[in-house]
Amino acid sequence: MFHIFPDTSSIAEYVSAALIDKIKSKPGVVLGAATGGTMEPIYARFVQQAHQERLDLSQLISFNLDEYVGLGADHPKSYAAYMREHLFNYLGFNESRHHLPDGQAKNLEEHCVEYSAKVQQHGGIDLQLLGVGSNGHIGFNEPGTAFDSRCHVVQLSERTRIDNSRFFAKNAIVPASAITMGLQDIMDAREILLIATGESKAPILAEYYQNDITEAIPFTVLKRHPNVKIIVDEAAASLLPDSVCKRTIEAYV
Ligand code: GLP
Repeated sequence: MFHIFPDTSSIAEYVSAALIDKIKSKPGVVLGAATGGTMEPIYARFVQQAHQERLDLSQLISFNLDEYVGLGADHPKSYAAYMREHLFNYLGFNESRHHLPDGQAKNLEEHCVEYSAKVQQHGGIDLQLLGVGSNGHIGFNEPGTAFDSRCHVVQLSERTRIDNSRFFAKNAIVPASAITMGLQDIMDAREILLIATGESKAPILAEYYQNDITEAIPFTVLKRHPNVKIIVDEAAASLLPDSVCKRTIEAYV
C-alpha cells in the first residue's frame, strides 16, 4: 500500500510529526538520515516544529546513509555540508552524535566495515528515512547491489550522476563513486519511511508496484520489511492504480 499525500508540504508535516513523536518517546533514538531534494522540506519543517516545541535534541543519534568518495566534510557539496545546512546547524545538535561516512577516509574498505559496526554498536537504526533514486537506488545502492550488502564503496551509475548533477555547479564533475550503507544495513532498521515526491519518481514507483523483489530495482527489497511505509505525493503516485493507494492521512502511530 502506498500512502498518498496531496503535496510535499503535507508530507513534510506528517514526517516531521513522526520524527518528533519518536524523539519524545525515546530521546536517544537512532535516526537513519537521508539527503537529497526530497528531504529538504521535511528537515525544514522538522527544524521549525522542534524549535516551536523547544524539543531537546541533545540525546538524538543519527547515521547518514552515504557520502561521495573524495569529498571531505568541508566540501560544500558533501553530504556532511548538506546535513549541517539543513539540520545540524539548528537546534543545538551535538555533532559528536551525528555520523556520516568519511569520503576521504585513508582506507575506504576498512572505514566501511567500521561504519556498519558503529551502527550496530549503537543498537541499530530505530527509524530510517529514505528517498529513492529514479533507478530505484536507496542510499547509493545501485541496481544489481546484493541484498545482503553492508556498507561499501560503489561506482555510481551514469543515471545517478546525471540526476545528481543538479546539486553541483554547471561544469563541475559529479563524483564517480560513493560510500553507502548496504541494503542489509537498511533492512536492519526497525522502521522505515520511504518518501518519493514529484513526477520524476512516478515511473520507478510503478516499477516497484509491477515487479517482484529484484536486485535490478534495489528498493523492491523493502517488500520484505515488516515495518515500512511508502509516502508519496500525488505527482509521484500518478502511475499507480487507485487500488494500492491509501489517501487517508491517519495519525502517526
Ligand atoms: C541520492 C541519494 C539518496 C537519495 C536519492 C534521491 O542519490 N544518495 O540517498 O535518496 O538519490 O534523491 P532526491 O531526493 O534528490 O531525488
